Amino acid sequence: MIFPNRLCLSAMAGINDWEFAKKFDAGFVILGGFNADRKSMEAGVKAVKRGRREFIFSDPISGIKKQLENALSSGKIIGINIRSATLEGYISAARLASEFNAVIEINAHCRQPEFLEIGCGQSLLFNQEKLVKIVEISSKYADTIVKIRGGLKVDYGLLSQSIFDSGAFMIHVDAMLPKKGADYKLVRKVSETGSVIGNNSVRDVESARKMIESGAKLVSLARKALQDKDIFKKLLMDDILASKIEVV
Ligand SMILES: Cc1cc2nc3c(=O)[nH]c(=O)nc-3n(C[C@H](O)[C@H](O)[C@H](O)COP(=O)(O)O)c2cc1C
Repeated sequence: MIFPNRLCLSAMAGINDWEFAKKFDAGFVILGGFNADRKSMEAGVKAVKRGRREFIFSDPISGIKKQLENALSSGKIIGINIRSATLEGYISAARLASEFNAVIEINAHCRQPEFLEIGCGQSLLFNQEKLVKIVEISSKYADTIVKIRGGLKVDYGLLSQSIFDSGAFMIHVDAMLPKKGADYKLVRKVSETGSVIGNNSVRDVESARKMIESGAKLVSLARKALQDKDIFKKLLMDDILASKIEVV
């Protein structure tokens, strides 16, 4: 897959719909996170009740489909960040992604209790057998990325290798170090096993270039996009960040 530049808008549940994402000049935009089955949608409703933002759809897959229809013909590479309590939810989302030539990103990152309780998000990092099954089946239908979180008691080298062996073509790593910014060593480690999107605390050319220098093929950001609508324009002034890249 050829990415038109090295920049990616990272998922933000309840925020990254197409209306929001289309304003940014990243070559790759990830919509969602979305909940792909009934149980994960119920967890989303609970999270909203305690003040979190979530996309709530009466029919999860139709809701995601509408978003992809809106993004069609934008010329950008589109991803959908997905949580599901069931394998069927991931399969439906992967089929949908394939129908729209989009990428599916399996959310093994979210740490909200409502989702952990039902085996979604970060809990998949501690149930790698399940994660492998999800990636194997998802990658039969669509190009699959797995979004992981750093800073946990996990062997990231082994985890990454098994994610790539299961068929994922990229790992999106939120290299978060609690209260310390980004863990570039983790980006390096995961990059040694395959192609990586480096994420966490990217806010300017310097921090974005550090991700690339640590081995990431692409760089993503989320929070900075909420503060500066021109952030990607600014990053694209840099030749490396603006350059095309092929990820196989
Ligand atoms: C409001 C908000 C909602 C988020 N929702 C999701 C989500 O649904 N799925 C996901 O994988 N990451 C989600 N994230 C995490 C971001 O994609 C990103 O990994 C994290 O914020 C670190 O990157 P940053 O330092 O550029 O913000 C969310 C972040 C924020 C701030």
